[in-house]
Amino acid sequence: MSRVIVVSRSREYDARMQRLLGDDVATVMGAYLSFGAQIALDQLAGDDAEVALLGPFLSYEDANELVTALLRRFPDLGLVLVHENHAEIEEWVSEMPIQSVLSPTADDDTVVELLGEMRTWLIDAGAADGEAPDYGALPPQTDSEPNSSVEATEALTLAEPGAPLEDAPDLQPLAAITTVGSADGEEGRVIAVVSPKGGLGKTTIATNLAVGLARVAPLSVVIVDADVQFGDVATALALEAEHTLPDMVSGLAPRDTMVLKTFLSVHPAGFYVVAGSEDPATGDRVTGDQIGHLVQQLAGIFRFVIVDTAPGLGEHALSVLECASDAIVLCTMSVPSVRGLRQELATLAALGILPAERHVVMNFADKVSGLNAKDVEATIGVPVDVAIPRSSAVALSTNRGVPLLEQDSRDPAAKALNQIVVRFDSAAAQKRGRAHRRVVVA
Ligand SMILES: Nc1ncnc2c1ncn2[C@@H]1O[C@H](COP(=O)(O)OP(=O)(O)OP(=O)(O)O)[C@@H](O)[C@H]1O
Ligand SMILES: [Mg+2]
Repeated sequence: MSRVIVVSRSREYDARMQRLLGDDVATVMGAYLSFGAQIALDQLAGDDAEVALLGPFLSYEDANELVTALLRRFPDLGLVLVHENHAEIEEWVSEMPIQSVLSPTADDDTVVELLGEMRTWLIDAGAADGEAPDYGALPPQTDSEPNSSVEATEALTLAEPGAPLEDAPDLQPLAAITTVGSADGEEGRVIAVVSPKGGLGKTTIATNLAVGLARVAPLSVVIVDADVQFGDVATALALEAEHTLPDMVSGLAPRDTMVLKTFLSVHPAGFYVVAGSEDPATGDRVTGDQIGHLVQQLAGIFRFVIVDTAPGLGEHALSVLECASDAIVLCTMSVPSVRGLRQELATLAALGILPAERHVVMNFADKVSGLNAKDVEATIGVPVDVAIPRSSAVALSTNRGVPLLEQDSRDPAAKALNQIVVRFDSAAAQKRGRAHRRVVVA
């Protein structure tokens, strides 16, 4: 079998290669290169691969580090740079053992043809004795030079391949996830995001917190969609998850952390995701105890476990709160939602499951509702820690599936969301002190 690794900073290109090459392709998200090529490659399982497509949109530094790490792991790998044919490429090609350059806009036939030629060339060079791969219907080859079919590229010199390739099992993307866990084997912080009523912004806050904390602690954050029926974390992150919550609470995963890890989805911003179930009926089979167990398992692996919940205090939210170190509780500037929050806090206190750390967030803050932060505080009896202004940028970001904090936005809502992140960043918190601070709506 043939194996092609694609390392790019373009989800579109990854998806295109997956469509074109099917099971033969394993993708590595280029965003991970920010944490080092080695960490990026830890996403790959298996010990061999034949060809790597590097790009599009990799920097020179990205590519250079990546090539070194790739060849250390797969000494016989054929390397194709996916890049427009700018003058700067000459330097790349002279500095790195790249065999071919492929335009990102080269059509499917050209890609398939190039991969076929690379493979043929590697075999000819004595690198492999397996069968030639079937990458699809290739046009007859008239030229044995691997670069000859590449549009928009100069003819490049081929580097000699190294030792022979061996046949090995297929690469499985994300089969071996390396996580950066909580320090000194301590349990991670479990942050439950709850609200008495629906639509107050739980998913918005949970997903933005995941993005923000992943900057503080890359690969140490997981977000769990515990809204078992109508969870929309994956939608808010524009993520197509291969495995969802029900997969992770049944079978081997609850007993085997290694199996559980293979079910997690990874987001390009550097955190992991337990996506909600595909439909309400399947989700409904997940029990509160199962979610509680999953959250505890994840707290043994990750520094931060963020749990988005369904509105109200159903069995799933209660199970999460039982093992949570932190609760982010939400209200808006409306009387029903403020009263709802007061009752929610009182109920949790009566049940003895109000987490030790509470973070009160007032969302959709504005100056036209007739209430102000002091009114809200007087009713709920605790200070409001962060007020997020009503902002069309938030609604837009939800619709685009890109959290505001992933966009480098200067919107006042992004500032407020960052204030929530800072509450969990111990270095920043030490500087600021742990005292509650009321944030006045701008
Ligand atoms: N500060 C804000 N300004 C404007 N729109 C917002 C703000 N916060 C959230 N929204 C929007 O409100 C909608 C509901 O938000 P979200 O899905 O986060 O709420 P939720 O509490 O998770 O809802 P549910 O209870 O249904 O799960 C989304 O379209 C989101 O973009
Ligand atoms: Mg939600």
